[in-house]
Amino acid sequence: MSDTTSTDLAVRTAGLTKRYGTLLAVNDMSLAVPTGSIFGLIGPNGAGKSTTFAMLASLLRPSSGELSVMGVDPAHDRDELRRRLGYMPDTLGVYDNLRVVEYLEFFAASYRVPRHRWSALIADLLELVELSVKRDSMVNSLSRGMKQRLSLARALVHDPDLLVLDEPASGLDPRARVELRDLLRGLNAMGKTIIISSHILAELEEVCSHVAIMEAGRLLASGPPREILDRLGGSRTMRVRFADGLVETFTVDSGADQAHLLRRLVIDEGRDVVEYVEESGGLEQLFLTVTQGVVQ
Ligand SMILES: Nc1ncnc2c1ncn2[C@@H]1O[C@H](COP(=O)(O)OP(=O)(O)O)[C@@H](O)[C@H]1O
Ligand SMILES: [Mg+2]
Repeated sequence: MSDTTSTDLAVRTAGLTKRYGTLLAVNDMSLAVPTGSIFGLIGPNGAGKSTTFAMLASLLRPSSGELSVMGVDPAHDRDELRRRLGYMPDTLGVYDNLRVVEYLEFFAASYRVPRHRWSALIADLLELVELSVKRDSMVNSLSRGMKQRLSLARALVHDPDLLVLDEPASGLDPRARVELRDLLRGLNAMGKTIIISSHILAELEEVCSHVAIMEAGRLLASGPPREILDRLGGSRTMRVRFADGLVETFTVDSGADQAHLLRRLVIDEGRDVVEYVEESGGLEQLFLTVTQGVVQ
């Protein structure tokens, strides 16, 4: 390990750019992903999320800019990077004529996991993603949610420190989404840094410690969701329920205003407040605030 900066950050990019002809798929991106975070990259389709992830995973060479992943330059030390990074692409690929266990053996072999460890490793992974009962099923017989979980197991075969998951929740039903979130929290608690993308903000809102908002190749904002909102001076909506059952909403501009409002209601006006909550949809609002004026 070199300096502290590279160990505190799982990913650091500066001016990262990817061009396809004249199209700037990723445009001058400076990104910092803290080690140990669950970091959400949010943006509409075509924003450049998959292109960014492919560069992180050393599958695509940047056109220009700097990129450091766990202190490694993907262009220089691909093998070292792939040993420590698990990448889940946005498609499962075509391995339909394989059984679940054979699918994972294939990836264990390609990551050079010694053969004598396969059996225990695959049993552990299947248990983790709750697919043990599907061990001998054909991959193509699995539901979408099961395929996503299998894909996640595949990304974990070599016990990577960093997981890069491209839209892992897409196409999942609400229950499968909740299960995925729990799984991600569990992996994070095991010490893994997780970078995850989505074009649906609500999917990431609960699970991410940090988010970055991307649109048309550009990074518009990044950091803890709350901090971004404060920095941008975005307003929040407080929902207040009074003892007589009346519910009212108030718009406030900052955390301090939140406190002022409560004090005013309870102390100055002597009202009987029984519930004081911020309306959910914070990320949704954050996204709208950040992209205001950029979308034409
Ligand atoms: N191989 C490619 N050749 C040309 N254009 C591409 C290629 N891959 C992606 N793009 C374009 O780059 C932009 C970003 O794509 P992508 O990274 O897939 O976005 P996202 O994952 O956010 O939906 C899009 O306009 C897309 O059409
Ligand atoms: Mg994509």
